[in-house]
Amino acid sequence: MAESMQGLKRTMRCAEVSEKNIGDEVTLMGWVAKCRNKGGIVFVDLRDRSGIIQIVTESEGADPRWGSLKTESAIAVVGTVEKRGGAVNPNLRTGTIEVIPKTLRVLSEAQTPPFLIQDGIDTREDLRLRYRYLDLRRPELQRRIIFRSRTVQMIRDFLSGEGFLDIETPSLIGSTPEGARDYLVPSRVHPGSFYALPQSPQLLKQLLMCSGFDRYYQIARCFRDEDLRADRQPEFTQVDMEMSFVDQNDVIDVNTRLLAYLLREMPPVMRELGFDGDLIAGIEAASAEVNGNGIGRITWKDAMDLYGSDKPDMRFGMTITDVSETVRGCGFGVFTGALEAGGTVRGLNAKGQGDMPRKRIDRLTETAKTYGAKGLAYIAIHGDGTVKSSFSKFMGDDEMNRLIAAMNGEKGDLLLFAADRFSVVCASLGALRLELGEEMGLIDHCAFKFVWVVDFPLLEWSDEENRFMAMHHPFTMPYEEDWKRIDSDPGSVRAQAYDIVLNGTEMGGGSVRIHMDDVQEKMLEVLGFTPERASEQFGFLLTAFKYGVPPHAGLAYGLDRMIMLFSGAGSIRDVIAFPKVKDASDLMMGAPSAVDPKQLEELFLAVTGKEES
Ligand code: AMO
Ligand code: AMP
Repeated sequence: MAESMQGLKRTMRCAEVSEKNIGDEVTLMGWVAKCRNKGGIVFVDLRDRSGIIQIVTESEGADPRWGSLKTESAIAVVGTVEKRGGAVNPNLRTGTIEVIPKTLRVLSEAQTPPFLIQDGIDTREDLRLRYRYLDLRRPELQRRIIFRSRTVQMIRDFLSGEGFLDIETPSLIGSTPEGARDYLVPSRVHPGSFYALPQSPQLLKQLLMCSGFDRYYQIARCFRDEDLRADRQPEFTQVDMEMSFVDQNDVIDVNTRLLAYLLREMPPVMRELGFDGDLIAGIEAASAEVNGNGIGRITWKDAMDLYGSDKPDMRFGMTITDVSETVRGCGFGVFTGALEAGGTVRGLNAKGQGDMPRKRIDRLTETAKTYGAKGLAYIAIHGDGTVKSSFSKFMGDDEMNRLIAAMNGEKGDLLLFAADRFSVVCASLGALRLELGEEMGLIDHCAFKFVWVVDFPLLEWSDEENRFMAMHHPFTMPYEEDWKRIDSDPGSVRAQAYDIVLNGTEMGGGSVRIHMDDVQEKMLEVLGFTPERASEQFGFLLTAFKYGVPPHAGLAYGLDRMIMLFSGAGSIRDVIAFPKVKDASDLMMGAPSAVDPKQLEELFLAVTGKEES
């Protein structure tokens, strides 16, 4: 039976009660986290978003219902704060006090929940997501969701202090060219016509610059129909910004200061919320580094050459070495063949792994193959100095020794080589580097290493489409000195585009935009847009740019990814209140779902087929 809370007023949250309140009467409301009956004395852990406090009934005259409270019921308690009678609980903020109740009201009795409301449970994620509102009661999720809210507030404080205006842009718009598939919304008023949900506010924020707003930001919801991963959701949130009359350095500067500010402000909040001490120490170390020295930059080319990735994990070394010149003309056909085809030969030195069992090397080879490599050649320098190699029969001792020297190979090292196209060699060695770094314990999981990746290529060749595509988006400004090669060598033109990378994850990215119409027209031509298609898709932007457009540039962070990284979560689902699963469905609401035929009729839509599932 449920009771009302009439006549009662909550005086504070559970874990806000402290020794200062000893002797006070308090009114607390929350959930029964635990209820133990010990020889007539009942101990109840009462939980709300602030934490837990212990309620202890006195043996005589207590409300008999205390003994049979169902966990997860919502209750109200009026009682007196006292020093703990029993042992102090060092794990609770309220561990030295307890409340002796005078009044109990059971506001809503709970059924037995489908899983324990506790941290560290190993309940299947689909069950947790079906009952997400219960899952969200667990302290670790409460902590992350509250941390997210607090971080957003810090971002707003910083940006508004820097003169950024928070301006909303619509969700029902035309298609934006971010490169993923659009989510479409049918129009009832315009049968057969569709809105697209924004993949980002990209074009709209550029138009706000045309309107003169100068500095814009928005905590913006974005929608992309793409394959999901641990760091990807079909709808996600960006901290989106754009600035006028600025260059790349201005954007990098204000964002480096934003990150320095967040790192400075986060530790006390994280401590208050009960985050892990090692994690907080990691943030503090990063704060000292970023506030003292800023954030380093690496060019896209160097990132690919050294780390095999445009989002390099800078928490450890083990960089890639280009040995193409060393092996040119050697006896091993795999190497020379790749070089003759215009490719490259590169290697990794896994220090101290020279005695790695063959089985494990085979597993690394499988990893390399999933990234397109045709194989993985190796030289194992055993601890006793003997050398074993998958290609020794193709190479003389001299050639072999030169290669080992080029790799800085020493006793006990394992040298791994990939020979292929640049992109395949980078992808496979980059992935091996991460796998080995993890296995070899080289990654400090409490470290936060930031880097700005700059000078991305403007264009990226697509085998699938057989044409160049924009690496960032079609409005990204090329470097002036490279632009003259747009016809002769388009692949070599660099863009004024930049990503902020944290621990090997792309946390945000942006670019200087094209504001000159001749450059924009040429860019669209290179990308294969006919003038008609360009005008159909973003004619409004091209027209707007004829009315005085300021040079402008911007950036967007993935907020979910940012919170995931800073809070030490393993997936962005853990920092989103109601996330979707791998197949993009919402298990709690059961979306997407079939709709009433009448709704379809109103929209002039018919479902013509259904894919077998
Ligand atoms: P971009 O497409 O790089 O740039 O997106 C910016 C950031 O958004 C995050 N992100 C995602 N997070 C979760 N799930 C997804 N599916 C997802 N896709 C992207 C990433 C990424 O770095 N308009 C440009 C920004 C600009 O140029 O100003 C844009 O959207 O962290
Ligand atoms: P094979 O002569 O094909 O047996 O190859 C000898 C060694 O070279 C094996 O260890 C293969 O895994 C490796 N290998 C084959 N193709 C490549 C490649 N493209 N890059 C690096 N190693 C390769």
